[in-house]
Amino acid sequence: MLDVQNLCVGLGGASSNPLVSDVSFSLKEDQCLGILGESGSGKSVTCNAINGLLPESFSVSGQVQFEGQDLLSMTPKQRNALRGKNIAMIMQSPMTAFNPLFTLGHQAVETIRHHQSLSKKEARHLFAHVLRSVNLTSVESLLDKYPHQLSGGMLQRIMVAMALVLEPKLIIADEPTTAIDYISQREVIKELQLVREKFGTSLIFVSHDLSLVSHIADEVMVMHQGQMIDYGSTRQIFTQPKSDHTRYLIETRMTLIKRFKAAMESGPC
Ligand SMILES: Nc1ncnc2c1ncn2[C@@H]1O[C@H](COP(=O)(O)OP(=O)(O)O)[C@@H](O)[C@H]1O
Ligand SMILES: [Mg+2]
Repeated sequence: MLDVQNLCVGLGGASSNPLVSDVSFSLKEDQCLGILGESGSGKSVTCNAINGLLPESFSVSGQVQFEGQDLLSMTPKQRNALRGKNIAMIMQSPMTAFNPLFTLGHQAVETIRHHQSLSKKEARHLFAHVLRSVNLTSVESLLDKYPHQLSGGMLQRIMVAMALVLEPKLIIADEPTTAIDYISQREVIKELQLVREKFGTSLIFVSHDLSLVSHIADEVMVMHQGQMIDYGSTRQIFTQPKSDHTRYLIETRMTLIKRFKAAMESGPC
């Protein structure tokens, strides 16, 4: 479905300042690719380059094929048509993804009507249906709320529903749970998994959190300083990582878990 070859992203038009070098991976239908890496390793730049969301000051080279079409050579108009309907993106920060001036219902209806010829009433009805299908309740009153009236976790879940409503073939979720608490994190992950099962949507799940990635991904790519340092099945990456840095990430995580368990067992101070 998605095939990325030698993707390079630089700033200022010259390759002298690469932010992402030589990233290659492919994603099959119904599969989830996890992109793992610490902050600043190039995960968001990679996703935004794939989805054509980088400003013009960035230079992008390589090949990005989506269902046989070359995304990098498309005009902005062609890309816009593809975005949302075929490729949906869930952003890291829910607050900036919504317009504070309009109700969530209004924004959802506008987005749906941009891609489908439905009346406002039909579009609202469709969105309410999707919200219920991801286990949200009191849906009608949710639709009449403005973004600032809801928690980050709630907005994140609504953003997942927004990504779903157009039944895209691919969802790119860039750290979709970073801004939210642990309970809402689990909800968002559950919803993404539900979507995969229900609609067979492919997923790119970006995170710096090893346990989240190991939970949801079939394959994992590890990034470090703009480079792809490991790529393989989730099992392979977590049991036989090729790169020392991946091993370091896994070991650090395990040490943390062990310390946490020991602290819990020793009881309150
Ligand atoms: N708009 C930008 N202008 C300049 N540098 C940027 C910009 N966005 C990202 N970068 C740089 O690109 C690198 C990768 O960033 P990013 O992809 O956001 O990391 P991640 O998502 O893995 O935390 C970082 O060094 C970051 O400072
Ligand atoms: Mg990022």
